[in-house]
Amino acid sequence: MRSMAVEPDPCVILIFGASGDLTSRKPVPALYEMAVTGALPQSTCVLGVSRSRLTDEAWRARLEPRAQEHAKGFDRAVWAEFARRLYYHAGSATSSETYPALTRRIAELSDTHGCRGNVLCYLAVAPTLYEPIVGCIDDSGLIAEGKRWCSIDRGAMPWQRIIVEKPVGTDLESAVSLNRALGRVFEEDSIYRIDHYLGKELVQSLLVFRFANAIFEPIWNHRFVDHVQITASETLGVGHRAAFYDRLGAVRDMIQSHLLQVLSLVAMEPPTSFRSHHIRQEKIKIIDAIEPVPVDRIGEFAALGQYAQDADEPAYHQNPDVPDDTTTETFAAVTLWFDNWRWAGTPFYLRTGKRMAAKRTEIVIQFKQPPAGLFKHLDPPGGRPANQIIIEIAPRGGVSLRFEGKVPGRGVHRETVAMDFDYARSFGSNPAEAYGPLILDAMRGDQSLFQHRYEVEGAWRAVAPLIGPESQAIRRNLQANYAPGSWGPPAADRLLAAHGRKWNNLEPRPPANHQSPADS
Ligand code: BG6
Repeated sequence: MRSMAVEPDPCVILIFGASGDLTSRKPVPALYEMAVTGALPQSTCVLGVSRSRLTDEAWRARLEPRAQEHAKGFDRAVWAEFARRLYYHAGSATSSETYPALTRRIAELSDTHGCRGNVLCYLAVAPTLYEPIVGCIDDSGLIAEGKRWCSIDRGAMPWQRIIVEKPVGTDLESAVSLNRALGRVFEEDSIYRIDHYLGKELVQSLLVFRFANAIFEPIWNHRFVDHVQITASETLGVGHRAAFYDRLGAVRDMIQSHLLQVLSLVAMEPPTSFRSHHIRQEKIKIIDAIEPVPVDRIGEFAALGQYAQDADEPAYHQNPDVPDDTTTETFAAVTLWFDNWRWAGTPFYLRTGKRMAAKRTEIVIQFKQPPAGLFKHLDPPGGRPANQIIIEIAPRGGVSLRFEGKVPGRGVHRETVAMDFDYARSFGSNPAEAYGPLILDAMRGDQSLFQHRYEVEGAWRAVAPLIGPESQAIRRNLQANYAPGSWGPPAADRLLAAHGRKWNNLEPRPPANHQSPADS
């Protein structure tokens, strides 16, 4: 786990795809933010590589307005200082001719800034370019130490590492092929597969919640937990990303990566220590314990959807950038079961979608009913709700324990009440989602918040039936099968109804200045 005690090593951060949108939106503003807080070592510089013919100055000028837009608390003077460490090299990253001059430039910058020969490659390019670029990096001889890196030498020898953006592949086969290509050049210890959900404060705090407290772990298993729900709903549609999105869909875009990462932290066993390889070992184990969805009964395990039109936006299939007969899902719900001692018989329901009722990321741990129904004779038909722990990752950030309380007065009337931890109220600030600290972790050599090759491949294996030819069974009549502003298609409700359960569809929270009748 991230330890502030370990200083990030200085390095040359080599960004491929330097003139692209991603670079100006994510890594550069994030590094700038880290420079503002003083966390980015002074002896670190950034070298961008792209085909556009730009000078260092022109690249800096392009980046400044985007940093202003995307970085928190932009300050022109601090930017000017930081921008002096931004350099640009024009050349095609997939052409071996680029590399002799590029490697000389890296060596010069490393000497000038005191980067000790360390190089952090960052692939901010289309996923189809990952393999060719890594091949060129290999041929260039840039990776001198990667293959020989070992913990005894930590800090003594220059290192070369690589950060890879999602998606790592588009299915199991392509992920294995990409991981092999990366592995031919870099050690697994030097590969940092980034998932921005692991940069969310509340996702990280799951480990503290579970393992720094003694009261939750004894009940965190199939004996006490009825089921778990993980929801990541969004209110926006696919917008200008339609052409790109149509090749992915919600299962590839969200479930395989973000939701399975969250699931692994909820379901994993306690790691031996908070060292990164111990955390990742447990994540790999739990992802491997997911039972394959039976392909002949896929409709009992998963539901897909596409949003319909409303006054604000056309339906997904009407977007001019997607084929009229597209069957790419903008909503997906899936039931996963584990074949292990802790969770046998406890379903995990995952769902995500665009244009839904609320922007919300939450985990619901739904507990079982008490073993004896002491108050059964007082219950309404259908019973009273059982206990829940709701971990709200976004928008609010907090944890709520819902339990039954007695309403004051005569008789035993009950209401569900909540004990609430609100992140902002307790810690004085909203939980941050931070990309910068993830990059610093890569500079420290801390892989806790990055995905191991086997996590990625295991996650592709888990979702394979949902994206393979078998999924045609749940892609029929997909178009416009849920209304914008709803919680998804009726088939998603049926998944849970078949088990006598329902989704935790909270109403969107009222805006901050909203006054409820009780307030006035
Ligand atoms: C990205 C997906 O990885 O995550 C997007 O590609 C999605 O489609 C986004 O909108 C959601 O992230 P967040 O942090 O807003 O939940």
